[in-house]
Amino acid sequence: MDPRALIDDWLREDDPEKLQELRERADRVRAERVGDEVHLRGLIDFGNLCRRNCLYCGLRAGNRELPRFRMSPEEILDCARAAADFGYGTVVLQAGEDETMSAAWLAEVIRGIKDRFALAVTISVGERPFEDYRKWREAGADRLLLKFETSDPELYARIHPAKPGLPTRIELLKAGREMGYEIGSGVMIGLPGQTYQSLADDLMLFHELDLDMIGSGPFIPNPDTPLGKEALANPPTDPDQVPASSEMTLKVIALTRLLCPQANLPATTALSTLEQGSYLQGLRAGANVIMPQVSPPRFRELYRIYPGAPPLAPEEVFRSVMRDLQAAGRRPGRGPGGRLREKPPA
Ligand code: 5AD
Ligand code: SF4
Repeated sequence: MDPRALIDDWLREDDPEKLQELRERADRVRAERVGDEVHLRGLIDFGNLCRRNCLYCGLRAGNRELPRFRMSPEEILDCARAAADFGYGTVVLQAGEDETMSAAWLAEVIRGIKDRFALAVTISVGERPFEDYRKWREAGADRLLLKFETSDPELYARIHPAKPGLPTRIELLKAGREMGYEIGSGVMIGLPGQTYQSLADDLMLFHELDLDMIGSGPFIPNPDTPLGKEALANPPTDPDQVPASSEMTLKVIALTRLLCPQANLPATTALSTLEQGSYLQGLRAGANVIMPQVSPPRFRELYRIYPGAPPLAPEEVFRSVMRDLQAAGRRPGRGPGGRLREKPPA
């Protein structure tokens, strides 16, 4: 059977026993191919300025209610120190598309972290010229994270008002790999207008791009955004519409593990926002990464992509992650936790 049709069938499957089997199969493949360690990536949401207007996201430029911030290099270093103290092997520097942030500024921050701590650095700052990504790589950044959100060109165009002149996300990911980055991406699950066929294509693209990390989470309607408002007022009814549920997210995690057996797959924050405890279920359905927040709550509160519970202090997040790992019978990863490969790349 054509793999795309097979994935499509699985995405539509609703027999609880079969779904349980799928998750167990993914969990076995996870254990065999990447082991029992759960890699911890300290998430530093260092700025919420954004020039884009993605219809689903609370950081969109059009959201004038949100007070904007960017952490100072010293504040970012403090977060990195906290991550290192908790034993996390990686920090993820994440921000909106801030056009007031120069490439040189971020390069200095990356150098500051690499000089002081034995941490892998992932950058997640959106679409920027190739040249900027080259500078950050030279400064020591190890990984780049850029979600393509959906591989359906029409749906993509509908929810991302264009900013011409930038390399597309797929081109950027490919260029990043050439520069020596590990590359990560992912999609939102249950975007209004997302069909099972298009989600099956997303999964095929994960495989085709040979991504090193893949983080997919449910779409959470944000009432301060146009797409969130619309989804709350008129929930989609098309039978081909993918639901934005935790069950669907777990299915996607499991299928991603089967298609990309050695990729690093996080149980995402959006998953645990949707349903308490589903984070743990993610770890049992193929995920092997958790991204605990290390930003102080006063900043984190302003990184309001979608509504959620008030942020916890990094120490509390650490304790809760350790409890989850214990409950799942897994152990925290040691070291940077990079992508494993059966064979070195040709
Ligand atoms: N629901 C779920 N995820 C969202 N993101 C942005 N808005 C939402 C939303 N409403 C995710 C996207 C984006 C990142 C900044 O956050 O995947 O890449
Ligand atoms: Fe900005 Fe990213 Fe949100 Fe789009 S998804 S508005 S680029 S922060």
